[in-house]
Amino acid sequence: MSQDRRVRVAIVGAGIVGLTFAIALNEFDRDHKFAIDIYEATPELSEIGAGINVWPRTWEILKQFGLEDTLTPCFDHAPDLEPRIIFGVRKGDQKDGFKVHDIIGNGGALRIHRADFQRSLLKHLPLPGTAATKMNSLCAVHLSHRLINYSYTNAGPITLNFEGKPSTTCDILIGADGIKSSLRPMFLNRLPNPQRYDKFREPVWSGTVAYRGLVSREDLEKVYPGHRILDHPGLMYTGKSRYTVMYPVSGGNFINVVAIVHDTSKDTTVWKGPWKTDVTQAEFFEQYTGWDEEVQALIRCVKQPTKWALQSLNHLDVFAKGRVFLMGDSAHAMLPHLGAGASVGIEDAYILASLLTHHSTPRVLSTHYINHLASVYNTIRVPRAISMAKSTIDTGYLCNLEAPIYEGYKPGDEIPMDLLVEGARTIERNWSWTTTNASEDRWRAEELLGRGGEMAML
Ligand SMILES: Cc1cc2nc3c(=O)[nH]c(=O)nc-3n(C[C@H](O)[C@H](O)[C@H](O)COP(=O)(O)OP(=O)(O)OC[C@H]3O[C@@H](n4cnc5c(N)ncnc54)[C@H](O)[C@@H]3O)c2cc1C
Ligand SMILES: *[C@@H]1O[C@H](CO)[C@@H](O)[C@H](O)[C@H]1NC(C)=O
Ligand SMILES: *[C@@H]1O[C@H](CO)[C@@H](O)[C@H](O)[C@H]1NC(C)=O
Ligand SMILES: *[C@@H]1O[C@H](CO)[C@@H](O)[C@H](O)[C@H]1NC(C)=O
Repeated sequence: MSQDRRVRVAIVGAGIVGLTFAIALNEFDRDHKFAIDIYEATPELSEIGAGINVWPRTWEILKQFGLEDTLTPCFDHAPDLEPRIIFGVRKGDQKDGFKVHDIIGNGGALRIHRADFQRSLLKHLPLPGTAATKMNSLCAVHLSHRLINYSYTNAGPITLNFEGKPSTTCDILIGADGIKSSLRPMFLNRLPNPQRYDKFREPVWSGTVAYRGLVSREDLEKVYPGHRILDHPGLMYTGKSRYTVMYPVSGGNFINVVAIVHDTSKDTTVWKGPWKTDVTQAEFFEQYTGWDEEVQALIRCVKQPTKWALQSLNHLDVFAKGRVFLMGDSAHAMLPHLGAGASVGIEDAYILASLLTHHSTPRVLSTHYINHLASVYNTIRVPRAISMAKSTIDTGYLCNLEAPIYEGYKPGDEIPMDLLVEGARTIERNWSWTTTNASEDRWRAEELLGRGGEMAML
């Protein structure tokens, strides 16, 4: 099969979602229809941050992408559907914290170090000379390629312009370039009524920052022998306008710490300054003055904390038009309170790879057909992403004890146990999506594709 007969797919952004999409397309591409080019702005591939949660729903998808053998050894426990603690919730903003409720989910959370996750994905790209199990699609990675513009005529290829690099072309363009996407504003500018989309160009700050860091097990054992997290799958310490989660990664050798601080008066404002900065331990510690010693001990062990401004996108209602598709954070960056951002992006990859490789999708894609396919992608993905993004906001308010049920309680006030438990139970319900099955979305998408496909091909 010569390369010029293949559908040329350009993926902009080699984050978790862009890489996963390339793997998905290759895995499903039984007829060897695709040639994939991945363009990444940075000169090397690296994943910042520490831990990430993968959920049973996402695991089902990753298995279908052929990643089971590579990823399984990286998780904190073998994937199964046993009821497991996702987070043990404790009241934390007082000297003697106490247990509130264990949030349980079938299969729990599969916790993995981001660097391990990315390494596993890179192993599965169908690049010449790598260990990819299948080589269905052709694939190339182009580092130091920052997309700055694209253009197309009706039937012809899409031309891609890069900063300081020669232009290239493709048939299908995927924006997987994250929350600060350059592709998203260009995509919005090319929609019929671009002014309507002004509020989707720039991210919005949530009034929330996250302090993040890794703690070595050894250090914690010295500072606080027998600390609860040393023998626990994950803990969440809640308090007024603050909460902290911690969980072991890398076979328990490290504890991943994320500590949230919320200023409600700054909700939906614009963050000024760098998104991520190194901060002193003293600054981090000060935010948690008066908290449970279990939290303070952990903070004392974070050698180099970083502070992240937590931003998200307004709920965009179109991810695809014609030959251009947004996925992952570039389409629907959401707050981290459900540990769901990458998972929802992986679902985008799953649905789009299924549609593009479906037996009814022809090798030569007419304008009508690709428009139809894009509308199916929108129909399936937009409502799902918006509902998840809304849920992350609600969950944040519950974790920070700022949800409507906690109205009237000021910092330092005692909150009745039944309200704390009610809040934790709502969070638990909000995590029930993790055990649903994304195969149903795939079937629905394929059914819609088939239903309109014949007409669209005319
Ligand atoms: C504190 C925190 C905790 C989280 N925890 C979880 C969790 O437990 N589970 C979960 O599922 N999600 C979690 N998330 C969300 C998750 O990290 C993101 O949703 C996910 O990493 C987004 O992946 P992406 O590939 O869409 O974007 P990114 O990872 O941002 O990748 C985008 C890539 O595009 C490149 N790029 C940008 N512009 C251009 C350009 N113009 N040209 C070429 N390349 C470009 C960038 O360099 C980058 O490599 C968390 C987020 C935070 C902040
Ligand atoms: C980007 O491409 C579009 C479409 O061809 C063109 O109108 C626009 O001027 C270009 N923008 C830049 C900054 O080059
Ligand atoms: C999360 O909780 C909020 C508040 O109870 C609710 O409105 C929302 O539908 C829930 N989301 C999910 C996914 O369960
Ligand atoms: C999801 O559905 C698929 C397809 O029917 C099935 O193979 C898989 O076992 C299901 N997964 C779960 C967790 O129920």
